[in-house]
Amino acid sequence: MLRTHTCGELNSHHVGHEVSLCGWVDVNRDHGGGIFIDLRDRYGITQVVFGPDSGAALLEEAARLRPEDVIRIWGRVARRPEGQDNPKLATGEIEVRSHRLEVLNRAERPPFTPRQRDLPNEDLRLRYRYLDLRRREMQETLILRSRIIKIMRDYFEEHNFIDVETPVLGRSTPEGARDYLVPSRVHHGHFYALPQSPQLYKQIMMIAGYDRYVQVARCFRDEDLRADRQPEFTQLDVEMSFVEADDVMGMIDGLMVQLAKEIRGIELKTPLPRLTYDEAMERFGHDAPDLRFGMEIVDCTDLAREAEFRVFRAVAEEGGRVRGINAQGAAAQYSRKILDELTEYVKHDFGAKGLAWFRVEPDGKLWSPTSKNFSDSLLAKIAERMSAKPGDLLLFSADSFDITCKVLNGLRRRLGAELKLYDPTSMHFSWIVDFPMFEWDAEENRWGAKHHPFTAPKPADLQYLKTDPERMRAVAYDLVINGYEAGGGTIRIHDNQVQQEVFNLLGINEETARERFGFLLDALKFGAPPHGGIALGIDRVVMLFGGLDNIRDCIAFPKTQKASDLMTDAPGLVDPKQLRELGVRVVRADEK
Ligand code: AMO
Ligand code: AMP
Repeated sequence: MLRTHTCGELNSHHVGHEVSLCGWVDVNRDHGGGIFIDLRDRYGITQVVFGPDSGAALLEEAARLRPEDVIRIWGRVARRPEGQDNPKLATGEIEVRSHRLEVLNRAERPPFTPRQRDLPNEDLRLRYRYLDLRRREMQETLILRSRIIKIMRDYFEEHNFIDVETPVLGRSTPEGARDYLVPSRVHHGHFYALPQSPQLYKQIMMIAGYDRYVQVARCFRDEDLRADRQPEFTQLDVEMSFVEADDVMGMIDGLMVQLAKEIRGIELKTPLPRLTYDEAMERFGHDAPDLRFGMEIVDCTDLAREAEFRVFRAVAEEGGRVRGINAQGAAAQYSRKILDELTEYVKHDFGAKGLAWFRVEPDGKLWSPTSKNFSDSLLAKIAERMSAKPGDLLLFSADSFDITCKVLNGLRRRLGAELKLYDPTSMHFSWIVDFPMFEWDAEENRWGAKHHPFTAPKPADLQYLKTDPERMRAVAYDLVINGYEAGGGTIRIHDNQVQQEVFNLLGINEETARERFGFLLDALKFGAPPHGGIALGIDRVVMLFGGLDNIRDCIAFPKTQKASDLMTDAPGLVDPKQLRELGVRVVRADEK
């Protein structure tokens, strides 16, 4: 080793020891009496001093050090002079008085330094990711990620799971996103698809009798990116045989208890709370609601039917819904101007036609520019329904159920944060269960699977498969943490006949089903145990346990919104020879 200790290790017990350290120059200060270097590595920072007795040549060499130079020093550990302790540093009681210095690598002036307070823009951080990864916050997050994955692996090993790797070059598995394709050199015109998840392989492992499977699996989805999505991400993928939904959820409950305790010191009570999908949409307008605070949605459609106010009455009479939330005590904080901005926000982001609001006056009466269109008695009924108290602000959306959900969920999340209705460092875990089996795809004019086409319907709902698919509920469950979907899974269909019927409904005809999933349909005929599982998004779990709001900060080498890696400049052009070998010709947009 080039060093005897790390930069986070030395303390008053080491005083008098002769040591050598290696690291990066964090900062270099000339205090007249000597040169003071903060020497940094991933373990911490140690103050290194070159004093008058170091000799002129060494002092001169030390003075020439610049931020991010990599150096090796030799010296003796000493107590810092009286009053110069730095309680913020683990090494804050000592310094190393150096008598020898070696520059291992000189750094050019970096575009930003790991110690600078204000973050440079994200593109620069991604381009010089090695500099960004030197920042303390990034190191803490990557260390957290490593700890979380270790806890996950240990937990599943203790519970008898077998870690199995599945192929990255394979056939398309439908998780609803676009595939990344890899052309085959050997079979021109044929392509591998990178897995959107190991879904079918893990089901095959159950049919093969492996009973309990786990994998930390890389998944690839070519979809539009958001703050909580990456084209390439990591799942904790789990599958179990001879189980019901409760067993899978119970297994994950146990993992969450362990993670919450070890990472955050939180004691979770199990079973974690459960909410049906229908309840979540009614009360919170979203299937991954943030349950750290209340502000539940209240339905006023029946009252709206009596309203003189045209918008409310028309929507109620035409089968829409009129629903609202009560932002308690918020009337004074939300001026007319801000309410106009909120109206524009819901129109622009969720396709709302407007936003109706009322302030609750000191006498308990509702007031708004439109309140003259309501009778006093109706306003009193609305106030009562909304549990309105003086100073409250009521916000209403009148529209299709779907749009009222989007609008009120959006407002609820935004106001919850603005009004500080929850402690941002707290964590709330819940399950959303009984999802619809299918959803209507208006663009494609056909039914789509809400989760994926291998999901089992609730046995009691099987009767609706041919007549009323909309009514069917799936044995599906999502793990929700702080308003994010952290994981999702289902019990699978293990009957070839039911699987065929579901494919039929989804418009996947027999020929296509055979072509794409023939191996699964065959396997289902050779002794398939009832099975089910789940996948957690590890990047999201790290983000949530780390209290972060951007998934890119939880990944060492993430991609931008445009799916590029700015450091390596991927995707890139390739040699025409490679394309010829693959039998691939690139068609420019203007040639089409
Ligand atoms: P699903 O598609 O719900 O289920 O994915 C499981 C979890 O993976 C995470 N996730 C993502 N994280 C980052 N970027 C993305 N683009 C992204 N997409 C998904 C989410 C999500 O909850 N095979 C099924 C699981 C099963 O049924 O067992 C599946 O992949 O946290
Ligand atoms: P209008 O009758 O369109 O001038 O709207 C009168 C008020 O009702 C305005 O404050 C609108 O923002 C609001 N409003 C209009 N449409 C809706 C709707 N669908 N839901 C809730 N409020 C609405």
